Amino acid sequence: GESAGAAVERLTRWCDDFPVSGVRFADLTPVFADAAGYRSVLDGLVAVAGDVDLVAGLDARGFLLAGGVALRLGTGVLAVRKAGKLPPPVHGREYVLEYGTARLEIPAAGIDLTGRRILLVDDVLATGGTLRAATELLESAGAVVPAAAVVLEIVALAGRAALGGRPCHSLVQV
Ligand code: PRP
Repeated sequence: GESAGAAVERLTRWCDDFPVSGVRFADLTPVFADAAGYRSVLDGLVAVAGDVDLVAGLDARGFLLAGGVALRLGTGVLAVRKAGKLPPPVHGREYVLEYGTARLEIPAAGIDLTGRRILLVDDVLATGGTLRAATELLESAGAVVPAAAVVLEIVALAGRAALGGRPCHSLVQV
């Protein structure tokens, strides 16, 4: 079948000046909506997943990946949410985007993350602020994050450096 790289090349929609002027946004929505594209990116993420017992997806496109990867790996799935979506109590962490600041949250009740080995998945690694905050958030809740995995890495934005040496697999680099 088609490789993840070929699907991303064929179907990614690049949007200039979104969500703010000067930012070029990579929208992978069409990749995930394509049967071959979705299968290829899930295959790629599963192949780099390593030994984990939970898959966490980043709000919002990461959710689409995390569920599919978790089903393939036979793990559960966890949504790392943007602020204000979860009922209290929550663990939270602020982070800086290319365009402003935001806050990620996970539940602080009903799920014990102590010692859980979590694969973090998202669609895009840009500046790395989102993945770094999510990793630190999960670690603050007692989890271990052996690695992250993303579909597309925008190399010029140096997100990998922002991750401070934490492993991050990317299926496609531009
Ligand atoms: C995008 C993308 C990543 C993040 C990467 O999410 O899906 O989560 O930005 O950027 P960074 O590496 O610079 O932190 P966005 O905030 O647009 O959220 P969405 O998926 O809910 O649209």
